[in-house]
Amino acid sequence: MNRIIKSTVVALLLLISYGCNTTKDTTNKNEQAIIMATPFDAKIDSLMDLMTLKEKIGQTVMYSGDLTVTGPVVSNNNQKYVKEGVVGAMLNVFSAKATKDLQKIAVEETRLGIPLLFGYDVIHGYKTIFPINLGLAASWDLEDIKKGSRIAAEEASAVGIHWTFAPMVDISRDPRWGRISESAGEDVYLASQIGKAYVEGFQGEDLSKHNTILACAKHFVGYGAAQAGRDYHTVNMGEDELRNVYLPPFKATVEAGVETFMTAFNELNGIPATGNKYIFRDILKDEWNFKGFVVTDYFATNEMVVHGYAKDRKEAAKLAIEAGVDQDMMSNANHLYLEELVNEGEVDVKLIDDACRRVLLTKYKLGLFEDPYKYSDEQREKEVIYKPEFLEAARQSAAMSSVLLKNNVSSLPLNKTQTIALIGPLAKDKKNIIGNWAAEGDRNGKAISIHQGIQEYLSDSKIIYAKGCDIEGADDIGFGAAIDAAKKADKIVMVLGESYEMSGEAASRTNIKLPGRQTDLIKAIRKEVPNKKIILVLMNGRPLDLSEEDILVDTILETWFPGTSGGYGVADVLFGAYNPSGKLPVTFPRNVGQIPLYYNMKRAGRPMNPDNPKERYTSNYLDSPNSPLYAFGHGLSYTDYKYSDIKLSANTIGFSDTLTASVTVTNTGEYDGHEVVQLYIHDKVGSLTRPVKELKGFQKIFLKKGESKTVKFDVTIEDLKYYNASSNFDVEPGEFEIAIKGSSDFNFENTFRLE
Ligand code: GLC
Repeated sequence: MNRIIKSTVVALLLLISYGCNTTKDTTNKNEQAIIMATPFDAKIDSLMDLMTLKEKIGQTVMYSGDLTVTGPVVSNNNQKYVKEGVVGAMLNVFSAKATKDLQKIAVEETRLGIPLLFGYDVIHGYKTIFPINLGLAASWDLEDIKKGSRIAAEEASAVGIHWTFAPMVDISRDPRWGRISESAGEDVYLASQIGKAYVEGFQGEDLSKHNTILACAKHFVGYGAAQAGRDYHTVNMGEDELRNVYLPPFKATVEAGVETFMTAFNELNGIPATGNKYIFRDILKDEWNFKGFVVTDYFATNEMVVHGYAKDRKEAAKLAIEAGVDQDMMSNANHLYLEELVNEGEVDVKLIDDACRRVLLTKYKLGLFEDPYKYSDEQREKEVIYKPEFLEAARQSAAMSSVLLKNNVSSLPLNKTQTIALIGPLAKDKKNIIGNWAAEGDRNGKAISIHQGIQEYLSDSKIIYAKGCDIEGADDIGFGAAIDAAKKADKIVMVLGESYEMSGEAASRTNIKLPGRQTDLIKAIRKEVPNKKIILVLMNGRPLDLSEEDILVDTILETWFPGTSGGYGVADVLFGAYNPSGKLPVTFPRNVGQIPLYYNMKRAGRPMNPDNPKERYTSNYLDSPNSPLYAFGHGLSYTDYKYSDIKLSANTIGFSDTLTASVTVTNTGEYDGHEVVQLYIHDKVGSLTRPVKELKGFQKIFLKKGESKTVKFDVTIEDLKYYNASSNFDVEPGEFEIAIKGSSDFNFENTFRLE
């Protein structure tokens, strides 16, 4: 059959199967509504009936287009496989033109014309970059997080991207691990709420719209628990920790409708995640009824050979598809071996069909069969990128993400009459400020530096700048000029921290102090100007050991990496245009020796005696307190908030009751502001031991100075359930402690009973 007749026949068959509206649609609106209500299965069935085994396997294959590099292997020119109709998705291809060119090959030059998915790491923005995710988590502002991811989806979808590899919802309790920067921190409840907000922001209300994109919950599961905080390292944990800490945020994304999952690089209890049937088939797909698809992390299938779990890449391909992993990112193991494995009877073709179906379903949901080029619109690309309202939103997120860790004698806010010395390697920085995993964010001048932000408030005559030193390196040649600047100024603002490469993937550190000579620079200045106020502004991707700085400086403002509009947002905080309201989503330890250190730890049998911390035969250190430097949930304001005693609707509740707990919060200071009111409980006795405290709710409120508000929380039986010793997610009777505070740093004073 010659090519023209063949393609005509196939096209006709496809028209029947796709139900494309290329013929006049004669159905009336009601009938059309009924047709539209029909699930995509019928169309997928008829398309799959036409597909060869090779073409079905093609849907389980993803290659990189290498417009950027996000893994150890560069694939160079895998586009050639697109033409053969044996690729289902590409990553690291972006721009309306680049995606359209490749999509045309897939749609117009292959036998069945099945459109590609284009995936990319749009983690905290595409071009307009928001604060890094650990910073966004510090805002505790779910609506703002959702708004930022909606904006990211607007920009990404305008350059042909259908799918972001986000949100990362790995619980992260180890500051040595560089990817803590991408996380929502250490807490299950907060990370779960934030994971939902990202999914809702990226995927929007309707995936068939051209400005909504698939989200991807990653990295399933346990990646943040890598031994010694070393990336990709071994993970071992019991069912208690897996079920009660690391799984819940992922389950929250499934409840929010996340369309895809990504495997973690690590092994979990001896089995690499990418070949781990228990987590993907038993838990994700069976228990949680997940209908989306699972993609491996970059090259992760092949790495099962390196793990020592698969004898070769062919076995790795078999193990992955059997484990419920549907698409292979960059290993080309599926591409090379699955057909052979099916033909040898080693892999059941039903597994291929299921994986293929799941991938096709997302393409139908996106509307790519109706219009494969709807995301590759060069006009929209020009109109959408860097919209002023996007840059303004990023400025607000930067302000809301900043956490005021200390502020002795109200060194902040600054006023416009004072001259400041602006010192530090990150003060004029426009490169690191957008942090790691910054997609196509600009590092060559677009971002607003802290210096530029301050210039919005102070004339240059009132800013004396000195770099002082580099981020890394032993050089102190700039100390002198920095000291001179400090001597001439009323206040000293030092902008110090890490480079953006010092966090994110493959960026673990054993030393979590400020790198280089930065702390020495503070010491040198403090020595020369012992009585001047020093304000330390931090840019970093992880909790740092600030035990020395905490003694040396008067104020510490944690800004993480605040993004494209970061300089404006941080300056808004420095000058009081925005009263800081951020709260730590992760504990700041006193030293690396305390790690892992997080607020919701278990009590142990010989807890430290708070009245006698050095008491022998208790769980403490000879050389350090147990307490963190700054606790989870901590964050100061320019005003003060007074919490009244908690009121409970009952002292005892039954299994069908709801307890209402409330406090009155009063703004007793001189500034209007936002406060994150936090609800904590402690289940005192359980069939498994329970954490000493658990966040179970929060509300971010606004109070004018002098204003009071009563904040209420309803505590339901669902809030008290956990995965218990009987392997049930259930609640157990007994006594619970309860508190409503502005940080996790408190002692309980109230209880209630469940009977
Ligand atoms: C990387 C990361 C993952 C990312 C993927 C694609 O190795 O682990 O988070 O989404 O590869 O770039």
